[in-house]
Amino acid sequence: MSVILGINTFHAGAAAAILVDGQAVAAIAEERLNRIKYYAGFPKLSILRCLEIAGVSFSDIDFVAVGRDSSANLHKKLQFALRNPSRLLNLARIRSKSKAFDDLTSLIASECDIDPAKLKFEAFNVEHHLAHTASAYFASPWDRSAGITIDGSGDFVSCMMSECSGSEIKPLKRVFVPHSLGTLYTAVCQFIGYPKYGDEGKVMGLAPLGRDTYADFFEDILRPSKDGFELNSDYFLPFGANQGVEITDAGEMIVHRLYSDKFINELGASRESCAEITQRDMDIAFGLQRVFEKYYIRLLNDLHNIVPTTRVSMAGGCALNSVANGKALYETPFRETCIQPAAGDDGLALGAALYVGNVLLKEGKRWMMKDAYLGDAYSDAVIKAELERYNIAYRELSREELIDVTTDEIKNGSVVGWFQGRMEWGPRALGNRSILAHPGFPNMKDILNARIKHRESFRPFAPSVLLERQSEIFEQDHPSPFMLHVYKIRPEWRERLSAVSHVDDTGRLQTVARDENPLYYDLISKFDEKTGLPVVLNTSFNENEPIVCKPSEAIECFTRTKMDVLAIGSFFCKKNP
Ligand SMILES: [Fe+2]
Repeated sequence: MSVILGINTFHAGAAAAILVDGQAVAAIAEERLNRIKYYAGFPKLSILRCLEIAGVSFSDIDFVAVGRDSSANLHKKLQFALRNPSRLLNLARIRSKSKAFDDLTSLIASECDIDPAKLKFEAFNVEHHLAHTASAYFASPWDRSAGITIDGSGDFVSCMMSECSGSEIKPLKRVFVPHSLGTLYTAVCQFIGYPKYGDEGKVMGLAPLGRDTYADFFEDILRPSKDGFELNSDYFLPFGANQGVEITDAGEMIVHRLYSDKFINELGASRESCAEITQRDMDIAFGLQRVFEKYYIRLLNDLHNIVPTTRVSMAGGCALNSVANGKALYETPFRETCIQPAAGDDGLALGAALYVGNVLLKEGKRWMMKDAYLGDAYSDAVIKAELERYNIAYRELSREELIDVTTDEIKNGSVVGWFQGRMEWGPRALGNRSILAHPGFPNMKDILNARIKHRESFRPFAPSVLLERQSEIFEQDHPSPFMLHVYKIRPEWRERLSAVSHVDDTGRLQTVARDENPLYYDLISKFDEKTGLPVVLNTSFNENEPIVCKPSEAIECFTRTKMDVLAIGSFFCKKNP
């Protein structure tokens, strides 16, 4: 038996994943356990939990893989430093910080309070973008595909194209920082009042409300180059090897201002986070998303020229841009995408482990991701004890009864907390830590926002649809099990699915297959039987916090908010029955 622990640490999305004999048996982001969104410290709690789920101890770990390699792309770092001597100090600071990785045994022993003598593993550093690529390709069922990773930056790279074949990933092209589609997206988010790490998805949702006003502005920022694209540095504060990012002592990510005064000179003052969103801000979001998609598609077309296949493995924070992913399937020659749910930096933990197992050790034990449920689960006994501890009235139901009463509630307009099975890996709730509601109930978006989510009114809610019914409702038929593609909803369904139709008649769907999540599938089937809609509205189970992990967090969210029903394990709880 071989045990590989993968970690992403001291970087946003700290996480751990564990492979036993090549198979991923657990993967958890630290934010779910320590409740600090995008936590960027050491993933102590997720390491402990992954080991527990796998039933192994620290002394059983054979290999540790870290999705970061400070020695990668050194020639580019040196070239940059020689051209920008004032940034040398910053590079030296980053280098000295990365010293912690030179002795992973001491790091893990001290962070996890373990006797170092018990740790006998061999450690590997995997370049950031190789780990991203591995997280997608080695989760796919394929033995060959093109690979592309696009993000802000990692190990001095913001985009990598590769050929994935058998147990090899061969990098073919890299785009080096400061040129970065992720940096551009984040800078514009900051300018229009979304300064927090991870706010990019909100701006993607805002974009369809805008008009095509700023095409020239964005054409001047982003230009084609022989590597794919380059940023016009006039629009950005000087790049200095991560100078724009800071990790607080509490492990929170702070992204400092990235854009230069040229933005203000051309567009006027930036928007304060609390200020009203104006048409200008929507137009800027529109221009950003459009130019992003243009280069995203261009990169994919370039990739296809060098790796001519119809399959592409994709990762990196930009691969969470579900609108661009939807378009990629019909605006490029690629016909199948494999994007695992933790496409952002949390996925580096899984990717680094998969890279070590497949590429470095050549274990020859391919794994295929069947579903996203790699996290914590809780027994009915634990859940029942928690409900009693919180003094919550409940009814214990059979599986069929639970499905029946829950679908009745959704049909009648109730907002349902749905807590079942193992927690999802990645940023999306996929039917195990979800809030469910009727997808076509009048004003359901406003009800959810007023009662629980408190989100901007423009942000759409997502539909979970039975896989077999997808093409009846959506114009595209490529499955999206991890909610990573946006497709047009067919005209005849738009009104019936008003709560999950965005302003541009699209939906960021989750396709649900029975073998991936039988309980959730049967729930949606029953809802279809009662309403003629093979769809439920699915939003994450949380209220301005990381998605709930433990029963106590679900119960507290249920009692704190105006949620009507909590269906947790076999237990059904309803307020004011
Ligand atoms: Fe990344």
